[in-house]
Parts: sequence; structure tokens; C-alpha cells
Amino acid sequence: MSAKPIRTALVTGNSSGLGLGLTRRLMREGAAVYGLSRSGCPESTAGDVRVDLADYPAIEPAITRLLDGVERLDLVVLNAGLLGNIQSMQEADIGELRQLMDVNVWANKPILDHLLTGGIEVGQIVAISSGAAVSGNFGWSGYSISKAALNMFVQLYAHEFPETPTHSLAPGLIHTAMQEFISEVDTERFPALKRLQAARGTEAMPDNDTAAQRVLDSLEQLRAVPTGRFVDLREL
Ligand SMILES: NC(=O)c1ccc[n+]([C@@H]2O[C@H](COP(=O)([O-])OP(=O)(O)OC[C@H]3O[C@@H](n4cnc5c(N)ncnc54)[C@H](OP(=O)(O)O)[C@@H]3O)[C@@H](O)[C@H]2O)c1
Repeated sequence: MSAKPIRTALVTGNSSGLGLGLTRRLMREGAAVYGLSRSGCPESTAGDVRVDLADYPAIEPAITRLLDGVERLDLVVLNAGLLGNIQSMQEADIGELRQLMDVNVWANKPILDHLLTGGIEVGQIVAISSGAAVSGNFGWSGYSISKAALNMFVQLYAHEFPETPTHSLAPGLIHTAMQEFISEVDTERFPALKRLQAARGTEAMPDNDTAAQRVLDSLEQLRAVPTGRFVDLREL
């Protein structure tokens, strides 16, 4: 666990994968966890609101309801994310590209704005990004674009949270639903995915519980990195 005890946390996208792993780990350490997702967190958390983060107008009322009475969050993890199709840019549908930006980037705006306007004290903000934000490999399409935009979104918001270490973090490979989808992609056409498919079942692709612990263990080190930066957990 990170050196600073975490008593309250907000984790978006905590119905499965990394978000669920983080929620379970934090709860085991005694934290009250608040979460947002479409299908709901299977754990009995301190607060759980179901919302489609692609539905922009629904987010502000959802976060207001979720954080009613909360005055401090030791940790905010903007984790919810969508992969979309692995495809060439030419094949990508503009509706899908927009949806990826909506969920992976813009959905975080009403959440951070609520923390600012509600005067909620925040100890640390981590937005879950990806190596795809910088690698630019063929096929990553709207996902790469949205994660690159997320990195800049975080860098800009960091100015507005001057007391709060704020970073975007690539967590490394994690065996979740997202990787299940990737395992079906044609690697002859998209060679960059060969490394991911080969990592399945190895230490290079831990389960969500192990990956969550790695993220939590990195928090202290992350706080020492200049705020606003993108960090790859594998390089910390
Ligand atoms: N797995 C990896 O190897 C890997 C690597 C690098 C980065 N990441 C990042 O890690 C984060 C978590 O991904 P994961 O691998 O844990 O995938 P996951 O198991 O598919 O989890 C994604 C989470 O985001 C939520 N979400 C997705 N679309 C949503 C929407 N429209 N509205 C509300 N919630 C939504 C999902 O909840 P509902 O479906 O219930 O809505 C779910 O809780 C993502 O940001 C992803 O980009 C993953």
C-alpha cells in the first residue's frame, strides 16, 4: 500500500477490470470508495452511481449525487475507459471516434469541475492512460488519440489543482476484458498486437488485483514527479 493512508477514494469505471481491482484493494485497506460505471460495482462500496459516461449531460448530476456530503477525497482515479475497434484510421467511423473521446476524455471534465466547484479537497489525482497514448502503432485508432488527448487534458487541469499532484499513468498490460478483446484481433494485419497476445498468461500481463496493487504502490513515487506529467508505470 502507498505510504499515505487512503481513507476516501473516487474510482471511475469500477464495475470490472483495474477499477474493480483498485476498489477491492482500497476497501481492504479500510478506504471508503465511491464509484461510477454503467453496470455498477459488485462490492458494497460507500457510494455507487450508474451512469453512461458517453452521456455528457448525465454526468454532472451523477457525480453530485455520488459525492453528496463528501468533503475530501484522498485519491481520485479517472479509470473508466473504452478501447473501441482496432482498425485503420480510414476504416474508423466518426461516431465511434467521438464516443471514444467522450468516454475517455470529456467525461472527466464534469467530474473534475465538480471537485473544484464543490470545494472538495483532493489528495491526489491519477488518470489511467496507456502506452498507446505515445506509441502510435497501426490499428490503435481512436483509443490512441483519446489517450494522447487525456494526457494533455490532465496536464492542463493540473494547473487548476495547484495543491494536488495530478498525473496521467500508463498502468502496463492487465488481463481484463479489454485484453480479451485484443486477443481476438488479427496480428498479421496489426503486428503491434503480437506482443500483447504473447504476454497473456505471463507476468507481463498481471490480473486486475496485482495491477491495482502496482498502481497503489506507485502513488508515493508519482507524487514526486512534477504535476501534470504522463508517467509509464513500467518506467517508474
Ligand atoms: N487492460 C489493459 O491492458 C490496459 C492497459 C493500459 C490502459 N488500460 C486502461 O485501464 C482502464 C481500465 O480498463 P480495463 O482494462 O480495466 O477494462 P475494463 O475491464 O473493460 O473496464 C473498463 C471500466 O470502464 C467502465 N466504462 C467503460 N465505458 C463506460 C461508459 N460509457 N460509462 C461508464 N463507465 C464505462 C466500465 O464499466 P461499465 O462497462 O460497467 O460501464 C468498466 O468498469 C482504462 O482506462 C484502460 O484504457 C488498460
